[in-house]
Amino acid sequence: MAIAKQMALLGFLALSLVACSGSTSRPVGGYNPLEEFEQLNPASIFATPEPQPSPTYSVEQLARGRYLVGLLGCGSCHTDGALVGAPNPDRLLAGSSTGIAYTSPFVDENPGVVYPANLTPDMETGLGLWTMERLVTMIRVGTTEHSASSLPVMPWPAYAAITYDDALSIAAYLKSLTPVSHQIPNNVQEGQQTDQEYVHFGVYQRLSDR
Ligand code: HEC
Repeated sequence: MAIAKQMALLGFLALSLVACSGSTSRPVGGYNPLEEFEQLNPASIFATPEPQPSPTYSVEQLARGRYLVGLLGCGSCHTDGALVGAPNPDRLLAGSSTGIAYTSPFVDENPGVVYPANLTPDMETGLGLWTMERLVTMIRVGTTEHSASSLPVMPWPAYAAITYDDALSIAAYLKSLTPVSHQIPNNVQEGQQTDQEYVHFGVYQRLSDR
């Protein structure tokens, strides 16, 4: 019988700060690039904070936006601690100081890292200054008004088929949240060192199994 392809769905924390316990065994015949990593179970966050009543958006629109944000699991990345399995319930959707690496742990000791943004309407640290149009565009096509592509780490291609009205409801809901002041770290360029924690996502397949 054919041996199942060696694919692994990995979510692990880069332990650049923590000494490796050395307990993992080295595979026969080679270097294991994952040896110094620990596998974690990220938390799926479907809980959503209560929006403030708004003169601008209808109750139905806010309820729809809230429903969609919960359903689409935005908080699973955009909530502090969620990516490492310890979400902070007081900071739902207020950004994550754990980042997500977007380059491979197999080749990169210092991967590029992005940080899920603070989605509450705080003026300094959140989406307070974003226009509704900019938010809707970001949700639907992953671009900002400056036309910079947002990395597909955030699964915007999976949301691209969302209707304009649904994206508008999400934007209205986010705009109606109580602002939470929470500054997330700056993104890290590939090759640059960081002492902030980050996780890797990925499905890896050994080329020889193809
Ligand atoms: C798999 C993780 C993940 C999920 C799920 C996710 N995001 Fe994101 N999001 C990110 C990351 C990472 C960034 C930062 C990307 C960058 O800096 O290029 C981001 C950026 C954003 C931004 C841009 C904010 C800014 O200041 O630039 C908005 C708005 C946003 N996300 C909204 C959402 C909404 C709404 C949902 C749910 C429908 C969602 N995200 C789901 C990871 C995620």
